[in-house]
Amino acid sequence: MRTQVAIIGAGPAGLFLALLLREAGVDSIVLEKHKRAYVEGRVRAGVLEQITVDLMERLGIAARARREGLVHGGTNLAVGGSRFHVDFAELTGGATIMVYGQSEVMRDLAEAADQRGLNIVYEAEQVSLSDVDQEIPLVAWRSGGLEHQVRCDFIVGCDGYHGVSRSCIPSKLLQSYERLYPLGWLGILADVPPCEKELVYASHERGFALASMRSPTRSRYYIQCPLDEKIDEWPDERFWDELCARLGDETAGKVTRGPSFEKSIAPLRSLVCEPMRWGRLFLAGDAAHIVPPTGAKGLNLAVSDVIYLSEGLERFYSNGSRALLDRYSARALARVWKAERFSWWFTSVTHRFPQMDAFDRKIQVAELEYIRNSRAAQTALAENYVGLPLTRH
Ligand code: FAD
Ligand code: DHB
Repeated sequence: MRTQVAIIGAGPAGLFLALLLREAGVDSIVLEKHKRAYVEGRVRAGVLEQITVDLMERLGIAARARREGLVHGGTNLAVGGSRFHVDFAELTGGATIMVYGQSEVMRDLAEAADQRGLNIVYEAEQVSLSDVDQEIPLVAWRSGGLEHQVRCDFIVGCDGYHGVSRSCIPSKLLQSYERLYPLGWLGILADVPPCEKELVYASHERGFALASMRSPTRSRYYIQCPLDEKIDEWPDERFWDELCARLGDETAGKVTRGPSFEKSIAPLRSLVCEPMRWGRLFLAGDAAHIVPPTGAKGLNLAVSDVIYLSEGLERFYSNGSRALLDRYSARALARVWKAERFSWWFTSVTHRFPQMDAFDRKIQVAELEYIRNSRAAQTALAENYVGLPLTRH
């Protein structure tokens, strides 16, 4: 088998890229190790930057998001229960974000992939990459009990943090910058109306909490917890009590409780690998970088990566120029590091860390109070939250 681009992973990075390449007339195959239902069912991101919504529009897959997505022009912060609002639209000249679950994005992507006849192989086992530094790399895998292989011009690793692509790059050629936080987010989904129209990020002596949503009748709530916390120790009533204590009375009074139908813990981690390329292998999305979820940046960074990469591939196939492909890593990393910084900073000022003492908490509160009262500080938060602009070429 022969193709132009072999994509490993059918998460957001892999499917957005495959659709972009189709638009550019470039052939691809996508190899995904899980079942389609599993990929679509994963409850993850909820906040889309304008660049992500714009890309969905450009690809002709935004009709449902336009109907069902919730456009937010701002967000709320609560400091020890006392709230203030940050008006993104007013501070940034009209920018907004859209609350639309990653599983909905995945459904829209996979439906478009079906309609356009993209070649996506789900349940591809033992995916392996070889000849990555040669002219024609090879990808092999097993499916349906048989061995398969494809020769290609380029491989793109869109296989997330636990994928195989990153580990193909010789360690002496890859620099990793990592920060592990001794924290996780315990998240629930419940079919109850959200407590507020817009999100509430709450920094409290007891720890961080976040009130989010998926629709006018479905709420998504998170509380920070120790990394080794056991979900079984969090029956719904305990979760609701702790959430309400951290949100504070003003917000807690509007929380509707109900049975959760999803409950999971996600660890917090920062990671950037440089460069995002080796030979004919490119990395995109979580395969190359991870952010703690506080800034809602992970999915959106996967999108900016594949926009940049598709521009490079399109240029290569249209006139043979490698210039944009050669700049891919530097271009992507420039945006990635700014989002890393923002996610790290937003995490640092809102979470309770084990080693924190009373002085550290006072400094956190002072920083958040500064944001409450400073238009300049609110503008910096708003600009980063709605998403920094893409660079042109
Ligand atoms: P993934 O979504 O991880 O996709 C990788 C794919 O590759 C998977 O389908 C996997 O099965 C497949 N794969 C892995 N290994 C192999 C292999 N060996 N062979 C073949 N296939 C393989 N981001 C935001 O922007 N906004 C948010 O609000 C937000 N909230 C989040 C909340 C939580 C609780 C979590 C956990 C994450 C959140 N994120 C958020 C992050 C976001 O979900 C990820 O950044 C995003 O999914 C990255 O997309 P990706 O395609 O790069 O990787
Ligand atoms: C959601 C997740 C986030 O990481 C975030 O910062 C905001 C919202 C969510 O899942 O709704």
